Amino acid sequence: MSAAPGLFVTFEGGEGAGKSTQIRLLAAALRERGLTVLMTREPGGSKGAEAVRHVLLSGAAEAYGIRMEAILFAAARSDHVEQVIRPALSKGTVVLCDRFMDSSRVYQGITGNLEQSFIEALERVAVNGVVPDCTIIFDLPAAVGLERARKRSAGPDEQPDRFEKEELQTHEKRREAFLDIAEREPLRCRVVDATKAQEAIAAEVLAIIEPLLPIKAHGRSDAEHIS
Ligand code: TYD
Repeated sequence: MSAAPGLFVTFEGGEGAGKSTQIRLLAAALRERGLTVLMTREPGGSKGAEAVRHVLLSGAAEAYGIRMEAILFAAARSDHVEQVIRPALSKGTVVLCDRFMDSSRVYQGITGNLEQSFIEALERVAVNGVVPDCTIIFDLPAAVGLERARKRSAGPDEQPDRFEKEELQTHEKRREAFLDIAEREPLRCRVVDATKAQEAIAAEVLAIIEPLLPIKAHGRSDAEHIS
């Protein structure tokens, strides 16, 4: 756990797991309790990181190789941590972040086949001590998640992003990799069944976070929002 007075919660999982809806529901529930909540996401969440986001998700960096992509994700994370997350935590804010370091471990490390020492080194410099107090992993079969993500990007201007386009097998491998992380770090990680009804998931997520609040968060009711 970080020494800062805020609470840092990250949300991880494959495509179409419903993370962003659940983050919004949790933020609303916590604000109702008078806490200051910041919703943010990766890649992005700060000015510098949002600039890098487009380069990564458009696939513009893909041609330069997986190391280049991994370093760009880490560069974006470093900016996000130093400009947004660390200052918010030091003020007692509850920070809810859609994806963080575990996405790099899984997408670049496991399915990108980057060696672990490389990913670990990037993670160390990018997070620079700001490790999540709690990580909620939304678990569901890759086929279900991909179908949901496809529906979401069915609009006239929406295209599947660089990572959504990959094979079902790759997405299944990611699911396993997230579950492996949860198994290896049971104190930090909690797995939630993302095939359940939205309200049931929201109640489960709140039940996970609630016991952490009195110890860590001393926010006020003025809400901040980035997304
Ligand atoms: P986005 O549309 O923001 O997300 P989501 O799938 O969470 O709705 O896309 C982010 C994509 O970037 C997603 O496919 C996962 C990928 N990604 C990585 O490969 N490595 C990382 O470190 C992060 C943060 C994301």
